[in-house]
Amino acid sequence: MTLDITHRLDGVLPDVEIAAIAPTIAEIEALKDQRNAVVLAHNYMTPDIFHGVADVRGDSLALARRAADTDADVIVMAGVHFMAETAKIVNPNKTVLIPDLEAGCSLADSITPADVRLLRERYPDTPVVTYVNTSAAVKAECDITCTSSNALEVVESLGTDRVIFLPDRYLGRWVASQTDVEIVLWHGSCEVHERFTGAELAGYRRTHPGIRIIAHPECPPDVLAEADFVGSTSGMIDWVHTERPRQVVMVTECSMADNVAVEAPATEFVRPCNLCPHMKRITLAGIRDALRDLRHEVVVDPRIAVRARRAVDRMLAVGR
Ligand code: 13P
Ligand code: SF4
Repeated sequence: MTLDITHRLDGVLPDVEIAAIAPTIAEIEALKDQRNAVVLAHNYMTPDIFHGVADVRGDSLALARRAADTDADVIVMAGVHFMAETAKIVNPNKTVLIPDLEAGCSLADSITPADVRLLRERYPDTPVVTYVNTSAAVKAECDITCTSSNALEVVESLGTDRVIFLPDRYLGRWVASQTDVEIVLWHGSCEVHERFTGAELAGYRRTHPGIRIIAHPECPPDVLAEADFVGSTSGMIDWVHTERPRQVVMVTECSMADNVAVEAPATEFVRPCNLCPHMKRITLAGIRDALRDLRHEVVVDPRIAVRARRAVDRMLAVGR
């Protein structure tokens, strides 16, 4: 087991760090076997988690799909709370754990179910698309969910002239720029991505001639205007593997560059570092404790879960 762990993390972390975390990883692997558990890890997890203990790695859409497909009894979400809730919504009879209940999201915090009901009154007969970065209670009020990798497809799948899109105003504006469907926006934003500026990126172009810039659609419009590619976290990773740029800036949470750099040694990653404080609450020790003590169990009121599931299932059917 220790040899296997060392091999997995070789080139990812310094040897001393691998030696320090190997016992915790070994405990996690043993607990996964004992509990028939899987660890689903978002692309923003730190390299010790991403390369060390994740069974499934991906963006929000991939994690939702894999959560729906797994035959494990226990799912540990190495990500934020809305991701764990989504896993629970599609697996009402499984145990879903999140290592830290405080791992939230500024987008999910920006809107309540009452807000959605008011929007529906204001725009009758207009379908409501919600980004998955929302609570289960908000999803329950909406017609369909989407992620950053399928937002345009989901909006166009509804076949209407207008949709309400919430809660991320920047992702909504990005979708609006790609379609003829009229988009009614909410005012939410991601506290990590809204900090990037177009001027900062123009500065990288001046100091690093030839650099490629790729950005997440939660960024403001002036940032997206500077980008060579806009996509979900997994979309950005795939782009790096396909394009193999000499130098790149990934305009997103900065742990992701650490994870991808290991797999793309020919590319130099220039790293503005904005960390998501919520994602960073998830640690190896927290994952070990979650599996050992079966905590913190994510519970969704079954009446809400049934309604939220309709919106999630409808999204999962798009593009299948
Ligand atoms: P992705 O679905 O692109 O992974 O985005 C999730 C997220 O929270 C980005 O900040
Ligand atoms: Fe939410 Fe932004 Fe953190 Fe993603 S990076 S979980 S959108 S706060």
